[in-house]
Amino acid sequence: MTILGIETSCDDTSLALYAPGRGVIGMQTAAQLVHEEFGGVVPEIASRQHVKTLLPVYTTLLRKTKTRPSEIHAVGVSNGPGLVGSLLVGVGFAKSLAYGLGVPIVGVHHLEAHILSNELAGQPLSFPCVVLVVSGGHTMLFHIPAPGTYQLVGSTRDDAAGEAFDKIAKLLGLGFPGGPAIQQAASNGDAAAITFPRAMRGKGHYDFSFSGLKTAVRLHVEAAVASGGLVVEDVAASAQEAIVDVLVEKTIHCAQSHDVGDVYIAGGVAANARLRERLAGACSQRSINYHAPLLEYCMDNGAMVALAAHARLAEGRDDRLDLDVFARGPVGGR
Ligand code: KG4
Ligand code: ZN
Repeated sequence: MTILGIETSCDDTSLALYAPGRGVIGMQTAAQLVHEEFGGVVPEIASRQHVKTLLPVYTTLLRKTKTRPSEIHAVGVSNGPGLVGSLLVGVGFAKSLAYGLGVPIVGVHHLEAHILSNELAGQPLSFPCVVLVVSGGHTMLFHIPAPGTYQLVGSTRDDAAGEAFDKIAKLLGLGFPGGPAIQQAASNGDAAAITFPRAMRGKGHYDFSFSGLKTAVRLHVEAAVASGGLVVEDVAASAQEAIVDVLVEKTIHCAQSHDVGDVYIAGGVAANARLRERLAGACSQRSINYHAPLLEYCMDNGAMVALAAHARLAEGRDDRLDLDVFARGPVGGR
């Protein structure tokens, strides 16, 4: 069985072909660089870009993998949460394709796909586990006692971790997306140079807050520019360390208090080398198994969507032309 996965929930148009048991046959992604001049994703521009790129991405994927349309047995598509305009373009395309090919179509929860992206490394998830989902739109800690049961135990009260990376990169003039740019600048900086705030460290809960950090960085940058002493690399390294400190501390605490032996990360920020290094170290000190997705499946991608679609397709589900999009909604709620 070959499943086509379609992902358009934000600013990446990504399609992949996935065969259960065989793995990812191919993936084609078009990132939207047009948002760079705005320092963040502009929803209307994102949906218009998906209209332009979907068909070329699809035909390129088929050409590169030497696949005929008739060899696609099912379609999986992210139908939320995300930017509604972008989701509508992807779901409309997916429905037309499934209808034309006469194959089933299933909607996939974008965050469940991120969580399951860990399985693209070759191993099924181990249960019970704790998963930290960190992306441009989300910072969430899940306790997952069994397959398909997602208990949200903590989330951000304001900015997501990826949003914090993006906003801090913008303050430092490092471009968009900010995460990779901050990581690059931080590799030449001193993480102990500036002590930025680490919010909501109390042990009783797993919620996050990153807006205070963003303000502290802005105030530091303004003062340093005025005095002629701005060291971009040190600010990037110190801010990255503040974000990573909180993510690692809360994830470990969550794993210990739920008594789980396996910790996973997922989402665009899971590509961050410092987060991977620190969380792996913290887990190994406590004999917790640490897992991370392959780097190519951290950012939004069609492969995780196809994989997540598989379980529903195996149950015989077909959402047909009724499939709708949703801007927000719990994982496992649909
Ligand atoms: O999962 P994703 O592709 O899209 C959403 O669903 O939001 O995540 C994108 C986010 C952006 O905020 C980007 O700056 C961040 O992931 N990101 C990183 C890194 N690579 C991407 N953040 C920190 N370090 C990285 N290496
Ligand atoms: Zn995402």
